[in-house]
Amino acid sequence: MKSIKCIGILTSGGDAPGMNAAIRAVTRAAIYNGLQVKAIYRGYKGLITGEITEFKTQNVSNIIQQGGTILKTARCAEFRTPEGRAIAHETLVKEEIDAIVAIGGDGTLTGARIFASEFNFPIVGIPGTIDNDLSGTDTTIGYDTALNTIVKAVDNIRDTASSHERLFFIEVMGRDAGFLALNGAIASGAEAAIIPEIALEHDVLSELIGNGFRKSKNSSIVLVAESPETGGALEFADRIKQEYPQYDVRVSILGHLQRGGSPTANDRILASRMGAAAIDALMDGQRNVMIGVANNEILLIPFSKAIKKDKHISRELLQTLRILSI
Ligand code: F6P
Repeated sequence: MKSIKCIGILTSGGDAPGMNAAIRAVTRAAIYNGLQVKAIYRGYKGLITGEITEFKTQNVSNIIQQGGTILKTARCAEFRTPEGRAIAHETLVKEEIDAIVAIGGDGTLTGARIFASEFNFPIVGIPGTIDNDLSGTDTTIGYDTALNTIVKAVDNIRDTASSHERLFFIEVMGRDAGFLALNGAIASGAEAAIIPEIALEHDVLSELIGNGFRKSKNSSIVLVAESPETGGALEFADRIKQEYPQYDVRVSILGHLQRGGSPTANDRILASRMGAAAIDALMDGQRNVMIGVANNEILLIPFSKAIKKDKHISRELLQTLRILSI
């Protein structure tokens, strides 16, 4: 196995708060271990365009508290083609980069898995996505910050919902996962969460209507996870407006404000631990794994397990929300 002297680092896919803390940790842990660090800009696109520069420890000063990613990010269609990946490999050879640390979500790790197996190239992944939809890790970098942002937004909306005695449908992100919506609903005291994992098997809205929304209150908040399969907040609100014109319904789509902002302490700590662990893993000869955390312990998860779409929503959380919203 070729020894690793120089590592490349990139962020790809949707940005997530805490990615900068992870970039800082990877850079500093690598330099601490005597490795050279090269920053690859705009995710996998940077491997095709050659946007690469050496990073020293001062390049990552004063970024731990910043949201977004100083490396920029992109979703790169060319990297999805064999021709694009061949150019990316040539760039790595030319730049004398021996391994990559890739920070991102499902798409980033899928790209990493394909590239690593095609070129027998060492890659370690760090889960960075607000969606929390990667298996093998309890949580992903950015999820805690996004959840806190959602809770603050819902708290504000509740003030006006309760003043006007309205029913609000608030749409949150998550792509096709309901972690932000379900935990956001519990943390903000919402009446219900409509999430793709259960929306097809169980009509939450009918149940809510059947119960007369919240009998003890004259305003209600329903968090809806964005989902092409089950529809978003606008669709659910329309359904209620047509069937129950007596309800004063409003919709709020939180959108990209959920992706920005200074990372929480939890996300900064998680990113710092995962960044340092990624370098440890490469130094130990580990390849093609994602860093995960379970029961507060750092773990190495093979890419094939991390990107499997089988991260379960906890039934206990669903039941808790149901009980507490009576
Ligand atoms: O994966 C993160 C995420 O914010 C999803 O929750 C959302 O569906 C998607 O990215 C939005 O992507 P874009 O910023 O490209 O519109």
